[in-house]
Amino acid sequence: MKAVVYQGPKDVVVKEVPDARVENPTDAVVRITTTNICGSDLHMYEGRTSVEEGKVLGHENMGVVEAVGAGVERVKVGDRVSVPFNIGCGSCRNCVHGWTSFCLRMNPIEGMDGAAYGYANMGPYDGGQAEFLRVPHADFNLLQLPEGDEHENDFTMLSDIFPTGWHGVELSGMVPGDDVAVFGAGPVGLMAAHSALLKGAARVFVVDKEEDRLALAEQIGAVPVDFSTADPVEQITEATRGRGVDRGVEAVGYQAHDPAGDEHPELVLDNLVKVVRATGGIGVVGVYMPQDPGAATEGAKEGRIGWDYGTFFTKGQSMGTGQAPVMRYNRQLRDLIVAGRAKPGFIVSHELPLEQAPEGYRNFDDRVDGWTKVLLHPGS
Ligand SMILES: NC(=O)c1ccc[n+]([C@@H]2O[C@H](COP(=O)([O-])OP(=O)(O)OC[C@H]3O[C@@H](n4cnc5c(N)ncnc54)[C@H](O)[C@@H]3O)[C@@H](O)[C@H]2O)c1
Ligand SMILES: [Zn+2]
Ligand SMILES: [Zn+2]
Repeated sequence: MKAVVYQGPKDVVVKEVPDARVENPTDAVVRITTTNICGSDLHMYEGRTSVEEGKVLGHENMGVVEAVGAGVERVKVGDRVSVPFNIGCGSCRNCVHGWTSFCLRMNPIEGMDGAAYGYANMGPYDGGQAEFLRVPHADFNLLQLPEGDEHENDFTMLSDIFPTGWHGVELSGMVPGDDVAVFGAGPVGLMAAHSALLKGAARVFVVDKEEDRLALAEQIGAVPVDFSTADPVEQITEATRGRGVDRGVEAVGYQAHDPAGDEHPELVLDNLVKVVRATGGIGVVGVYMPQDPGAATEGAKEGRIGWDYGTFFTKGQSMGTGQAPVMRYNRQLRDLIVAGRAKPGFIVSHELPLEQAPEGYRNFDDRVDGWTKVLLHPGS
């Protein structure tokens, strides 16, 4: 089968690899109809992870079940499914409590809880930027979708970024009527803004410097804040008459930068601590790494980021972090899409055949104007 393979920094190719197949009785194989390029893939693409050369990338996958193992009972060949990026065993303590993003059994790496497809340090699993994908524990992991091809561009956000944006808002502790500041207007930040509005936020501020992304934020009813024109904290503080926001969401991650493009891994955390009111909450879904050899500072190479913990403590704020447990939310979010209440597909800018993945990676990585979210359609 054809698949997108990582060859080294800024180098991905589409080439023939062995077919995905049922290896264990509880596996299914999914024929991929849509697979997205994610901001998380860019950390690998830019050579900022320890991902091995030859890895098949892709953790945002959906398609149609092609084959099932003898032990699969619920899922049937021909089912249209969304594949959560987390691979859960379904029976460990964390999976049972809804924390599939910290599954204790699927990642063989010592000290790493949580597994995913096609991702650095998340286990030996191939990704789904390919014609087919092997899904372990299929009965547990797969989410069934209405048959046909309706809502394809909305449903494809269910494997990662819609639940991740929703999780960022959950972690912040938002309740209806709260003002929320989302840092980052990439796909994840836009999904967080969409989620906060669906959950009844009074106002949602979205901070970025990319005009096309800020325009999308405005289009869904959020207030765009351009950090390249003035300090975003001052802009939001003024708009809230000095009070700040109730909740903040971090959707940028460890490659946060200033308007000139210089990286400061503490920048967004510091801004959130400043702009969230005392006793407010912060949800961090942007990724931070325990090891980052390409980091801007010595400490950050070891995951040590000097953010303003003193003010965070003094203001009595709370913070939640980590990979999103997709299964906690994906059924409800699917049904919001079916009911016409959620439309996460509004961020899709490009749909390409699998063969054009290298072009998709290059443009999305360069944040070329208008390249907000790239979908790949194997077999198209
Ligand atoms: N926790 C999870 O489960 C999970 C899942 C998916 C993605 N992620 C992570 O979420 C983050 C965002 O993903 P994405 O796909 O939206 O990526 P992206 O790289 O497309 O978007 C990040 C955005 O942040 C902006 N930005 C950079 N510095 C900023 C600053 N100082 N202030 C405000 N905005 C700034 C960039 O201009 C960019 O638009 C990444 O770190 C990704 O790895 C986490
Ligand atoms: Zn992703
Ligand atoms: Zn588990």
